[in-house]
Amino acid sequence: MKDSMIYWQLSRLHVAPDASDGFDVFSPIDGSKLGSVSAYSSSAHLNSVVDVAEGSFDEWRKVPAPIRGEFINMLGLELREQKTQLAIVVTAECGKSYQESLGEVQEMIDVCDFAVGLSRQLYGLTMGSERPGHKLLETWHPLGPVLVISAFNFPVAVWAWNYAIATICGNSVIWKPSNKTPFSALVCEKLVQKVAGQFNELHPDTPYPMLAHQVAITETDALAQTLVEDSRIKLVSATGSTAMGKKLAPIVAARLGKSLFELGGNNAMTVMPSADLDMALRAIVFSAVGTAGQRCTTLRRLFVHADIYHKLVPAIKAAYKTITIGDPRNEENLVGPLIDLQAHKNMRDALVATQVDDGKMTGGRRVLKTEFPNAYYIEPAIIEFANQNDLMMEETFAPILYIVKINSLEEGIELNNSVTQGLSSSIFSTDIRETELFLTEADTGITNVNIGTSGAEIGGAFGGEKDTGGGRESGSDSWKAYMRRATNTINYSNQLTLAQGIKFDVKGDD
Ligand code: UN1
Repeated sequence: MKDSMIYWQLSRLHVAPDASDGFDVFSPIDGSKLGSVSAYSSSAHLNSVVDVAEGSFDEWRKVPAPIRGEFINMLGLELREQKTQLAIVVTAECGKSYQESLGEVQEMIDVCDFAVGLSRQLYGLTMGSERPGHKLLETWHPLGPVLVISAFNFPVAVWAWNYAIATICGNSVIWKPSNKTPFSALVCEKLVQKVAGQFNELHPDTPYPMLAHQVAITETDALAQTLVEDSRIKLVSATGSTAMGKKLAPIVAARLGKSLFELGGNNAMTVMPSADLDMALRAIVFSAVGTAGQRCTTLRRLFVHADIYHKLVPAIKAAYKTITIGDPRNEENLVGPLIDLQAHKNMRDALVATQVDDGKMTGGRRVLKTEFPNAYYIEPAIIEFANQNDLMMEETFAPILYIVKINSLEEGIELNNSVTQGLSSSIFSTDIRETELFLTEADTGITNVNIGTSGAEIGGAFGGEKDTGGGRESGSDSWKAYMRRATNTINYSNQLTLAQGIKFDVKGDD
C-alpha cells in the first residue's frame, strides 16, 4: 500500500465557515497527530444546520426518485475511483487493516448500486377496496431531514448505508460522525461535493444536492443532543453502544420522532460435531479478531460441542499464534491497534476480571510498546470458561473470545439467546435438522449457517433485536424507515359509500 498521499492534506478540511473551536485528531496507528478539525461549539450553530437541512429537503424531495438515483450512481462511480485513497484515510484514522478498509469502501460502493436500483422501485401496495368504484393503495413519500450518527469502527460504510438510501428516498441528511474519526467524514464530504457539482452540470435545473448533505462535527457528544432534540429532524439513525441508544431513545420518543438504532452486539457461534472444522476455524478467527475485535458483529462467545472441543480449541489457539499484529498499513498485518487508551483499559479490565486458571487464558498482552509507545496493539485473547457467566454478558469492544463447552444443540441455542443483545449469531453444522432448528430458535437479527458472525453483505437488512435496538439499515426493505407511508383511498364512482356499510344519510336542501 502506498501511503505517500495518506493524509490527503487532512488539515485543510474544515467543517463549516462559522464553526469556531475544534480539537486535535490522533492516529491510533502511532499516536501521531493527523490534524485539527473545527467543530460546532454552540446549539445556535447546530440550529442553523437544521435550518439548511429543512430548506434543502423541500427542494430535494421534489426531484424525481430516479434522478436522485442518478446522483447516487455518480457517487458510487467516484468511490470506485477513490477506493484506495479513502481506504488509506480510514486505516489511518481508525486503525483497521488496509484490506478491511478496502472492504469498507466496497460496502459504500455496493450500497450506492443498491440504492440506484431502489430509486426506480420504492414500491407501494395496491389493495382491493371493499367499496364499489374505489381504489385503495399506499404511496411512499420522503420523510424529512435525517440525522445519521456513526461510530469510529465503520467510519464511512455505515454513513453510506444511510446516506445513499436516505438520499434516493428524497431526504436531506445531517451526519454526526464519531469525534475519533472526523477526517474520514470530511473526505466523504469532499467527494459528495465534487459529485454534486458534476451532477448539477448534467442537471442544471435540479437543486444542488450538496445542500442536502451536511457534516456536523460537534465539540462534544453532549452538544449533538441539540440535533436529537430538534423535532424538525424526522429520523435519528444512530450506531453506537447500547448505553448511547438508551440515552437517545427517550429524547426522540418524547417528541414522537422516528429512530433507527444499531447498537451493541454480543455475538455467538455454536459449532456442532458434523461441522467442517477447517471452515469453522477460519470463520472463527476472522470474526473474532477482524477490526481488532471492534466490529459490532465481532464473535465474542463460542460454544463448542464436547465431541470436537479437543480438536477445535487447540487449533484456534494455534491459529491465534500465527496472527500478525502491527501497523495496519502494512498488508502483512492482520490485526491493527485498538482505537485508543480507553479501549485498551476496557480490554485489560475485562481480562483482569476473568480470574481463570493458568492455561485457560491466552493472549491479551500489549505488544510493540517500544515501536509504538502511544498506540495500543494487543494480542487477541481467548478465555475458556466452564460455563457462560456474567462477564460474558458484557460487550467489551476488543478482541476477547470466550469459549464454553456444550453437550447439545439445545444448550448452544439457550446460551446463544441468554444475553440482552441480539445482533448476530451463527452455527457450523452440516446437519440440516440442526441448522434449521438454529435458524428458527436463535433470537438475533442476523443468523448465519456455516459462516461467521461478521462480514454481512449490504443486500440484507442489517441490525438486531433486544438491546441491539431493533433497527434495520442497508438492504432489503430497510428503505421504508426513511420514508413515510400514505394510504390513499380514491373514489371514482358517483356514489359516496361509507366503509363498514355504515348508513349516514344527510338530508340535502331539496
Ligand atoms: C458495524 O460494526 O457497525 O457485517 C458494522 C459486518 C460489516 C458491518 C459492521 N459489514 O461486519
